[in-house]
Amino acid sequence: MTELRHFLDLDSVDAETLRSMLDVSARMKNAGGNETALAGKTLAMVFEKPSTRTRVSFEVAMQSLGGKVVILEPEGSQLGRGETVADTARILSQYVDLIMYRTSSESNLLEMADAASIPVINGLTDWSHPCQIMADVMTYEEVAGSISDRVVAWCGDANNVANSWIHASAQFGFEFRIASPEEFRPTTRIMDWAETHGARVSVSGDPVATVTGADCVVTDTWVSMGDAEAAKRRTALEPFRVNAELMARAADKAVFMHCLPVYRGDEATAEVVDGPQSVIWTEAGNRLHAQKSILLWCLLGGAGLA
Ligand code: CP
Ligand code: NVA
Repeated sequence: MTELRHFLDLDSVDAETLRSMLDVSARMKNAGGNETALAGKTLAMVFEKPSTRTRVSFEVAMQSLGGKVVILEPEGSQLGRGETVADTARILSQYVDLIMYRTSSESNLLEMADAASIPVINGLTDWSHPCQIMADVMTYEEVAGSISDRVVAWCGDANNVANSWIHASAQFGFEFRIASPEEFRPTTRIMDWAETHGARVSVSGDPVATVTGADCVVTDTWVSMGDAEAAKRRTALEPFRVNAELMARAADKAVFMHCLPVYRGDEATAEVVDGPQSVIWTEAGNRLHAQKSILLWCLLGGAGLA
């Protein structure tokens, strides 16, 4: 049996393929896509957590390539009554051509991928959010040119989105600096991965030093889906808010990014979120174009990216 092209993380797909995906996404954004490339194919999306962008962009991407979509949530499916993820994977594999899965734990995602006989896409876990960072790198390059050797500065909780940025820093060759309080720093697991893969990643407790001269400043919610102790997190993360004063330390043409949803006044001030350096709407819009090349690669391989 041929190996399945799962899109589980940015460290599990080679850099050359990721680059081709970005090229295809940009091309489809500018010139339109192949409206029949995925005709006859069906995507099942399984959501165990809420979503606006991932859900709508994948559905529209699939439809615009000629495919169809079905959506499952625990409420309304047997997942909510304890049917296992592996059994769900085996069943879905009989009906559809690929699965996009948003779940709380990385182990659920791996269980789905192991049991499925069709490709599985990671639509966010507690560990990572690779589809988001494909759109983010696409966006940076669209507005500011090649991300290679640029400096991206992350302020706040070193969460699932930050982990995918770390993977991307090795795969696309940029420096990734993180400023966060001690209790919300990257795990040993991701830092070991960064070291093994030659990623230029640094961590400090000083947001000003981290952002100084950066080409891109990025943050995310202080309280991710499933996080406990919201008040405690807000107190610890308060000094890492991205405000205009902090943005002023970045490079002159620096951009501000955020995967959304954003909580103005927490991780970033409204002045920054809605300010002239913010590219968040382009970033959100690019989810659609990024999803298309992911779907094409999973289902058609290199031919889908030709
Ligand atoms: N950024 C992102 O994944 O948004 P949703 O949770 O709305 O899908
Ligand atoms: N870190 C956030 C990202 C939401 C898209 C979360 O996991 O809730």
